[in-house]
Amino acid sequence: RIQGPLTGKKVVVTAGPTREYIDPVRFISNPSSGKMGIAMADAARALGADVTLLHGPITEKIPDRIQTKSFISADDLFELMKDHQDADIVIKSAAVSDFKPVTRSNQKEKKDRAKLSVELERNPDILSWLGEHKKKGQVLIGFAMETENLMENARAKLEKKNLDWICANSLSEKGSGFASDTNTIHLIGHERQLEFTGSKKEIASQILQEIFGS
Ligand code: C5P
Repeated sequence: RIQGPLTGKKVVVTAGPTREYIDPVRFISNPSSGKMGIAMADAARALGADVTLLHGPITEKIPDRIQTKSFISADDLFELMKDHQDADIVIKSAAVSDFKPVTRSNQKEKKDRAKLSVELERNPDILSWLGEHKKKGQVLIGFAMETENLMENARAKLEKKNLDWICANSLSEKGSGFASDTNTIHLIGHERQLEFTGSKKEIASQILQEIFGS
């Protein structure tokens, strides 16, 4: 057992993309690698926390020292999250699909037609749900990725989703974003705001040090 500021705390971290299936062989997803979430999970473990990493379909290696559970769709993740709702700290780095196909066909869609329409419906916003059901003392940390108006949108999400912190990362900043090993994150809280640049590993431990260190 590691002694640190998070010893005895239950931490749940989510990482990676979701997949929303159209038919048995096709899905809607995004390029999330899970690297940032894995780094957050490992950094929390190094501070003494009892960590569970919930991850989507990723190829990135997860260190054996981290306990994991896997999900495919946003609905799967929502179910897993409800099982871990009692966590002291929730870090939501997963890139959850906002929409899913209304129906999923059991057979592969044939290409003997010029067009195929797929109707999409909203997925549950898991982090908003967690914010609505936040228990006393629980810390909710969200992520925000935007292509424009990053800081304004991130600040709005911090309030709207009832979060304690939001990690804003821009897709347009150099050395940032989906599969990169490096990142720039603007950590925004209700009272302070900081910027971190470096490897995802370094940033993850700096963020947790800033929030929970001493
Ligand atoms: O609103 P937006 O999707 O930009 O917010 C991003 C944050 O919300 C991330 O922490 C992400 O994991 C979470 N999220 C979620 N459920 C969704 C969409 C996003 O938990 N359906």
